Amino acid sequence: MKIYLIGFMGCGKTHWARQLSEKLQIPFFDLDDAIVEQEEKPVTTIFEEEGEEYFRLLEKDVLHMITESHESFIMACGGGTPCYYNNIDYMKRQGTTIWINCSVQCLFDRLIMEREKRPLIKDLTDEGLRSYIQKKYASRKIFYEQASIILSEEQTNMDYLLERIFHPQ
Ligand code: S3P
Repeated sequence: MKIYLIGFMGCGKTHWARQLSEKLQIPFFDLDDAIVEQEEKPVTTIFEEEGEEYFRLLEKDVLHMITESHESFIMACGGGTPCYYNNIDYMKRQGTTIWINCSVQCLFDRLIMEREKRPLIKDLTDEGLRSYIQKKYASRKIFYEQASIILSEEQTNMDYLLERIFHPQ
């Protein structure tokens, strides 16, 4: 069983992936952490030194590497993962994709507290952050909504997650 959690930065992918991994006793992977481990540099440094294009290529390679070397896992993807190359089609072919959808306001309230470790938003003002989230969310939605399971943040609890994974409509 291969499960990919996708969605905007701050939607709770890592939190829910960890919870699912514990519940189902399946290994957990955080795609960003795997990239950091491979490059031995934080994501912000990779962006600064090599640029976003390099990061996106690396992201795709590490996504394939983990997918192809493990039978079962729960993966917390990066916010941009499904939006580059053919990553969303690839993940859909390999396993179950779950989008945790969160409102722009909810994302703003969370991200305003933790900008530093996120290269794409770390230099934005509060208002800049709000309009960045609005624009990016609008342009990424067409990728996120291709997920096989779509959950809103308020709906996301363990029983509901398990129900949707094991009894997809
Ligand atoms: C990104 C989200 C980040 C990380 C990188 C780019 C994005 O992951 O992959 O900073 O493009 O939205 P999280 O969603 O886990 O913060």
